Amino acid sequence: MQVFRHADEMRAWSLSRKCAGKRVGFVPTMGALHEGHLSLMRAAVRENDVAVASIFVNPAQFAPNEDLDAYPRTFDSDLEMSQEAGIHAIYAPTASAMYPEGYSTYVNVDRVSEGLCSRTRPHFFRGVATVVVKLFNAVLPDRAYFGQKDAQQYAVIKRMAQDLDMGIEIIEMPIIREPDGLAMSSRNQYLGPEDRQRALCLSESLFRALDALEAGERSVDKIVRMVRDGMKDVDIDYVEIVDAETMQPVNEINRTVLLAVAAQVGPARLIDNIKFAPPEATAAQ
Ligand code: PAF
Repeated sequence: MQVFRHADEMRAWSLSRKCAGKRVGFVPTMGALHEGHLSLMRAAVRENDVAVASIFVNPAQFAPNEDLDAYPRTFDSDLEMSQEAGIHAIYAPTASAMYPEGYSTYVNVDRVSEGLCSRTRPHFFRGVATVVVKLFNAVLPDRAYFGQKDAQQYAVIKRMAQDLDMGIEIIEMPIIREPDGLAMSSRNQYLGPEDRQRALCLSESLFRALDALEAGERSVDKIVRMVRDGMKDVDIDYVEIVDAETMQPVNEINRTVLLAVAAQVGPARLIDNIKFAPPEATAAQ
């Protein structure tokens, strides 16, 4: 497995593969890898001729009061895990190479990046969209893989790739959970035993809501209330039901929707979600 620090070297490597007719799969990460990242990497390896992952903690998606400095950095074990997953090349640029003195260009994706996480993290999706374009420009992927845990991020990147004619297939992979249901996240490392236990109310409330939806409940208010009631022990940021593609709030559950939650649990801000496609809507299509 090769490790590239510079965009030019990364691009030359990918270009030579593409000129040989090979498909490049790509998994962007901020490192601190866990089973969620590995599931994306294994898919990229399985579905493409060569697979690249990036490891870059992107300063542009953290606000000054957020956890940029504390964000876990485990580069050596990340390399080992990537190699075991079958990744062929790692792109790990430095922050100064990505954002040198005078850097001035940012990517904004309207509408889909409004609401949900951007209410408390207004800078976040501009930082994500910008870095993902820069990573795409270095890696030149045919397909890129993102986890459903960051469902709004996936929707933003998908919209951006479509709007900017990038010709890159944006693929969403299912959430990977701990055996007790907690969605895997690099930020779970911040949780002490008590917070770890309290954090379970996110997934448990979502699963209860999914049971209700599957049993035929279609009231947005009732589902949101049910989830909020289940999350009384944590500091809720939002509980919302939105259109799964546009991220716009819905009044009726008559298409594929995303039920998304975010909460502060001790030192960690956690997000989780489920998607639900009402069978009556899919049958009508
Ligand atoms: O999901 C992440 O880890 C990051 O937001 C990403 C896509 C690697 C961009 O920094």
